[in-house]
Amino acid sequence: MRIPESKIEEVRTSASVVDVVSEFVQLRKRGKNYIGLCPFHNEKTPSFTVSEEKQIFHCFGCHTGGNIFKFLMEFQKISFVESVQQLAEQLGITIDYEQTGYSEQQTEQEIFYDINTETAKYFSNLLLNDDEGKFAREYFQKRNIKTQTMRTFGLGYALRGWENFINFSKEKGFDEDKIVALGLVGRNKEGRVYDKFSGRIIFPIFSPNGRVVAFAGRILDDKEKSAKYLNSPESLVYIKGRTLYGLSHAKDDIRKLDKAILVEGYMDLISLYQNGAKNVVAVSGTALTDDQVQLLSRYTKNVVLLFDADTAGIKASMRSIELLLKRDMEVKIVSLPEGEDPDSFVNKYGKDEFDELIKKAENFLEYQTRYYDSLGKFDDPATAAEAIRELVKPVALINDELKRTLLLKNIAKKFNVREKLLESELIKQVNQVEKFERNKTKIKTKDDSTTSTLALTESRIESPVIYNLETEIIKLLFESDKNIKEFLFKYIQPDEFAKGFHQKIIRIIKNEFQKDENVTADLVFANLQDEQLQTYVREITFDKHSISSNWDNRFPGITDEMIVLKYSKDIVLRFRFEKIDQQIQANHRELELVEDEQAHIKIMRVNKELEEEKKRLREKLSDKELT
Ligand code: CTP
Ligand code: MN
Repeated sequence: MRIPESKIEEVRTSASVVDVVSEFVQLRKRGKNYIGLCPFHNEKTPSFTVSEEKQIFHCFGCHTGGNIFKFLMEFQKISFVESVQQLAEQLGITIDYEQTGYSEQQTEQEIFYDINTETAKYFSNLLLNDDEGKFAREYFQKRNIKTQTMRTFGLGYALRGWENFINFSKEKGFDEDKIVALGLVGRNKEGRVYDKFSGRIIFPIFSPNGRVVAFAGRILDDKEKSAKYLNSPESLVYIKGRTLYGLSHAKDDIRKLDKAILVEGYMDLISLYQNGAKNVVAVSGTALTDDQVQLLSRYTKNVVLLFDADTAGIKASMRSIELLLKRDMEVKIVSLPEGEDPDSFVNKYGKDEFDELIKKAENFLEYQTRYYDSLGKFDDPATAAEAIRELVKPVALINDELKRTLLLKNIAKKFNVREKLLESELIKQVNQVEKFERNKTKIKTKDDSTTSTLALTESRIESPVIYNLETEIIKLLFESDKNIKEFLFKYIQPDEFAKGFHQKIIRIIKNEFQKDENVTADLVFANLQDEQLQTYVREITFDKHSISSNWDNRFPGITDEMIVLKYSKDIVLRFRFEKIDQQIQANHRELELVEDEQAHIKIMRVNKELEEEKKRLREKLSDKELT
């Protein structure tokens, strides 16, 4: 399945980035742009900017940005193709797929999805209808799983033996390398392939949009020696730390109830869902990751942790609490009775008891206090102090100062500690958190510094005047129509730019402009190719003060076009003057070195000529009516 390039263009040009983003982020108009709180990182003051004119978005905080497809991909963790499909559907554009004209990677991704979908159907059919599958059906029945639930979650069964799936995949014509990459088959040292999931019951793992990205297979007999669950490896379509099992089934209820219950296992989720608790997602086998928290935070800010009562479960809870707090989530924790997991609990006690349990959820502070108490930490003053310090730690992770203060009061009351004492402990830890975050950003900028923030600061130090003029010119080239572009290119050549990457940008714009003088900003963006360069350009072209709004205040009643032209002339004049002045200064330095009278006079003459040139430029470029 390939989408023709022209269709992608049609979708892109028919959509409005502001409309699409507005569905997910509250935007306010500021000058020409729209601003809002960034959905990709945690912030209190908006640095997320959307430009209708350029059809792009950019966050000045986390530097995420791009066009409309990029937004959907990042926001919903979907592929490029999916983002095009989704948008096309919204816009009522029908996509006619074709065989060629699409980049390798996207095609490969689609093939992976297709293989997974076919495979899931194959396993499901074996569970529901095959003779050998009877055993697996009975296993699920023993665990109270209804046939309808098996269908809902696409549960399946993989036949015993080493080449049942392989034979199926040959029939289907699946590429062997691809089924190896997807972990459906293994390849031994001799290069022979064999079924990976054989004899296991199968849980397909879905993307938030409901596409099959991976599989998990459970052994049917707990006495068996191999691992209880076998999971697909990561692949082009599956990143473990970015996937939450069950999200595609749960997302509507999570939104509706504005609450998500987080469990550990596949079976926990499925049993709860069958019993009517449908706002559940599972981390399934790994520690919760920040990406998963971010994904979940798009649906709700309220999370109830429902982990096993064993030590591993408690440890996992503690770690998860930190991650959730950092993203401003409201965290509550439910403790299950000894020896139960959510699946066994709901099957034993039913949905009403389960709801009661959820109602009794504690806030994270109560939970942790009880945990330290159970370890006997509060019995001895020395360990008590340490425990209190530990309790303040997660509080320091909360960004909301008011919330922090309230929680502090809570701890103070509970342990009869002077609030001031806790406060100073909190301040210490808040500072530590901030320092850590700062260092992290520093390292990040260092890593991708070719053209981004680091380079930006460097060049500002070098020659701020030239640097600013260069960025203003780039900005103008992005915001203006063909007349202005023509004007700018008449007076300024790419080679004259001080910064190498500025030269590169200007050359690309010029090149596109020569191909089509009506070229739009988003097309130029697409042509920048290099991701670093794109980020950089977004950063400078999305400057907080848009050009015309500045001038608007100074010259009310003048049309945009006139303002931009006036501004362009002004910038060109200053740029040319700066260049001439640099030359004049260089000549002055040379004057001090040359002894020869004739050479002296010659340089003086050149300088005089340069001064004349400035005068001519001023006459040509200054707009008397406006100044
Ligand atoms: N898990 C895994 N690989 C394993 C063991 C566990 O990926 N070898 C993951 C699975 O997602 C599993 C979760 O960790 O659902 C919790 O593990 P566990 O509590 O052992 O299994 P249950 O979910 O309780 O599964 P069941 O009820 O079928 O025993
Ligand atoms: Mn279980």
